[in-house]
Amino acid sequence: MLTAYDYLMASYLEKTGVDIILVGDSLGMVFLGYKDTLEVTVEDVIYHVKAVKRGATHTMIVADMPFMSYQESVRVAIKNAGQLMKVSGASAVKLEGGTEICPQIKALVKIGIPVMGHIGLQPQSVNLYGGYPVQGVNEKDIERLIVEAKALEKAGVFALVVEKVLSKTTALITAAVKIPVIGIGSGPHCDGQVLVTQDLLGAFEDFTPKFVKKYANVAGHSTKALKNFISDVRSKKFPSKKYFY
Ligand code: KIV
Repeated sequence: MLTAYDYLMASYLEKTGVDIILVGDSLGMVFLGYKDTLEVTVEDVIYHVKAVKRGATHTMIVADMPFMSYQESVRVAIKNAGQLMKVSGASAVKLEGGTEICPQIKALVKIGIPVMGHIGLQPQSVNLYGGYPVQGVNEKDIERLIVEAKALEKAGVFALVVEKVLSKTTALITAAVKIPVIGIGSGPHCDGQVLVTQDLLGAFEDFTPKFVKKYANVAGHSTKALKNFISDVRSKKFPSKKYFY
């Protein structure tokens, strides 16, 4: 699974045959320049899913439910997820949380909305953690994560993102459930992996977690190309004959 927030990236991703495109609320940081994901709204997600859908008409698109669009109650979750599915073209929604959001998940699945779960590090809870710490380190946490994974599976999630969890804990989670576990920063004992596309392309430079392997240097190449254009314009090298009518 890889993220996209716009038409162009979605069209690149569709050509790769990736299994799932995630319109993650990471768009708040990567696309909108916020300091975390908390400010992202349902309207933001709808806007970006629509663009992604136009670029990837044949790939499964999962949309993140933003902070406070589902936590309050089953009713609020149904209203927002329903709106998202109705107008955006997403095939499923993703919700961060454990046993406390099982009633919302059950209700969404019951009315026909597929739900992907997300446990371990939950970036929407950054203020509770006071940062982005590794999860599943002590006995109590390991036990809680396994209980949460099982409860989410029972509630009806079709897959589970496990973020920044100690690798040996992730192995226990993967063994405890039958649904696919998609890891991010959680090691190899998963059924799939997800990264933020702009991270792996080396396009987003504000911060780089340890779990990001950079497969390209888009930031460096883009800055160089832009500088070359500006220099060509200033020195009147551009536009040369080839580039005008
Ligand atoms: O918002 C996001 O992009 C995510 C993934 C990184 C799992 O939730």
